[in-house]
Amino acid sequence: MMLKIRLQLILLLSGVLFNAVGAFIGINIGTDVSNLPSPVNIVSILQAQQITHVRLFNADAHMLNALSNTGIEVMVSVTNEEVLSIGESPSLAASWINRNVVAYVPSTNITFIAVGNEVLTSIPHAGPILVPAMNNLYKALVASNLNHLIKISTPNSMTIIPQPFPPSTASFNASWNSTTHQILQFLQNTKSYYMLNAYPYYELVKSNGIFPIEYALFEPLSSVKQIVDPNTLFHYDNMFDALVDAAYNSIASLNFSGIPVLVTETGWPWLGGANEPDATKENAATYNKNLIARVLNNSGPPSQPGIPISTYIYELFDEDKRGGPVSEKYWGVFFTNGTAVYDVSLSGSDSLGVNSSSGFCVVRPGADESSLQSGINWACGPGQANCAAIQQGQPCYIPNTLQNHASYAYNDYYQRMRSSGGSCDFDGTATITTVDPSYGSCRFTGSSNSSTGGMFPPPALGPIGPSPGSSTSVIVHFSTIVAVIFATLFLFDMNALKHFVA
Ligand SMILES: *[C@@H]1O[C@H](CO)[C@@H](O)[C@H](O)[C@H]1NC(C)=O
Ligand SMILES: *[C@@H]1O[C@H](CO)[C@@H](O)[C@H](O)[C@H]1NC(C)=O
Ligand SMILES: *[C@@H]1O[C@H](CO)[C@@H](O)[C@H](O)[C@H]1NC(C)=O
Ligand SMILES: *[C@@H]1O[C@H](CO)[C@@H](O)[C@H](O)[C@H]1NC(C)=O
Ligand SMILES: *[C@@H]1O[C@H](CO)[C@@H](O)[C@H](O)[C@H]1NC(C)=O
Ligand SMILES: *[C@@H]1O[C@H](CO)[C@@H](O)[C@H](O)[C@H]1NC(C)=O
Ligand SMILES: *[C@@H]1O[C@H](CO)[C@@H](O)[C@H](O)[C@H]1NC(C)=O
Ligand SMILES: *[C@@H]1O[C@H](CO)[C@@H](O)[C@H](O)[C@H]1NC(C)=O
Repeated sequence: MMLKIRLQLILLLSGVLFNAVGAFIGINIGTDVSNLPSPVNIVSILQAQQITHVRLFNADAHMLNALSNTGIEVMVSVTNEEVLSIGESPSLAASWINRNVVAYVPSTNITFIAVGNEVLTSIPHAGPILVPAMNNLYKALVASNLNHLIKISTPNSMTIIPQPFPPSTASFNASWNSTTHQILQFLQNTKSYYMLNAYPYYELVKSNGIFPIEYALFEPLSSVKQIVDPNTLFHYDNMFDALVDAAYNSIASLNFSGIPVLVTETGWPWLGGANEPDATKENAATYNKNLIARVLNNSGPPSQPGIPISTYIYELFDEDKRGGPVSEKYWGVFFTNGTAVYDVSLSGSDSLGVNSSSGFCVVRPGADESSLQSGINWACGPGQANCAAIQQGQPCYIPNTLQNHASYAYNDYYQRMRSSGGSCDFDGTATITTVDPSYGSCRFTGSSNSSTGGMFPPPALGPIGPSPGSSTSVIVHFSTIVAVIFATLFLFDMNALKHFVA
């Protein structure tokens, strides 16, 4: 009964997904990493994780080459150091575009240029030159006839919106009036996006216990802690949506509209110093898992329900060379060897698995490593899977993780043996996915593109069980509705909240 309800809800959600314009999840690739993998290995990790969008903090030639012909969409960045000179010189802007964009498209699919990062708050003296830099770059794009394929914007910190709560009254810090006005005019004229770096983690820390942590982590709020904007009566069941709406309202307060918000950074640190108790692996896993489910449900924030919130997670690897508080170094979702720091599926494929015209057997997220090793040993031994491709030097060796190798071995066994009763179980460490796990030159057995693809009959249309990820998102969704129905409405009144938290 429970299972049936879940499956129906999943189908319901899937219907919504297919009708809406899709939001995507991307990832930031910071490079303050002492043992940064080579660009080719970074790209292998991205492909193994089925990551479709990346943001680079520069326009590194080796990365742009490695990303070519991968289908991954790329945001390149003008560094803050480059902004000043580009703002003063149209010809420098043109040569930047030629060197870092024209030279790589279309084989590297560059779709965004981020001009600086948090320029207004990190190098305020460059504020007046920011929009001239964006304009110079735009003119160079037009000259190369790329302005319809590539959007230019500049990521802003939440700091330029001093009071984001409640979202309906949020507005930009008035000291930046003229610059924010020019930025928005540029974005509206060029049909671009407002790029927002939004961190519920920092807002939670700043709030000193006023907000419950569940609110920042997209977890259900108890009925006495419902958060409602007193002016619009919109329910904000998570802080991420509130921050995005704070940006929409700030934009509206300067009389601009039609500029979608793109979240260029968000995430959660998984380790911190003694004074950073919220920076834990468990919180980071919860935040990112719930964030992904929330973004991929394709709905907008309460004030803009029809505009999905595409989002780049911060970040691929821990940046151990960064200074500041301990947590600054621990935002990574993967170690540099390609192993996940905690269990999270960035492709969202677990919750979106509705294409049952093919099925692959892969490692279940969260499976423990020693069981995976036994699984590989069995599949490649008695199970008679062909494990040649995961040997060192072969196409599926990198990322050199138990997860990747086990997925390959499990799937090869399953594709060969399922017609004679072989199942996708491996002691509970395996699961069926409809998404082809192949990446780069690593083709999984049964892939329409693999050399052995034709060898096996098409799989039967079996039911796809709810994965841990999808059932959780359904439960969150469900309990939110229930909570809202029974909610006592508490407005964004800090004292009321404090009272209930204390
Ligand atoms: C690049 O990405 C855009 C946006 O998704 C897509 O429409 C286009 O086909 C891609 N181009 C290439 C060359 O892959
Ligand atoms: C607005 O920005 C100015 C200049 O950076 C800063 O001095 C001021 O404190 C900010 N105002 C608020 C309310 O944050
Ligand atoms: C910024 O704009 C607001 C609203 O238009 C206005 O009240 C304020 O005086 C302006 N501030 C500055 C510094 O221009
Ligand atoms: C926005 O438009 C309203 C109505 O046209 C006007 O009263 C207000 O001054 C405008 N605000 C700004 C910041 O331009
Ligand atoms: C998507 O997520 C938002 C925010 O949690 C929620 O309010 C909304 O109901 C969800 N929509 C669907 C279709 O699940
Ligand atoms: C399912 O996968 C097949 C083969 O990869 C593809 O041709 C088909 O378009 C997909 N269907 C949907 C609904 O995504
Ligand atoms: C990958 O690196 C992490 C962190 O250094 C380590 O804990 C883990 O054991 C490594 N995994 C493999 C398969 O080498
Ligand atoms: C199939 O594989 C070849 C070579 O590995 C690659 O060039 C091609 O893009 C792949 N096609 C698809 C649909 O994945």
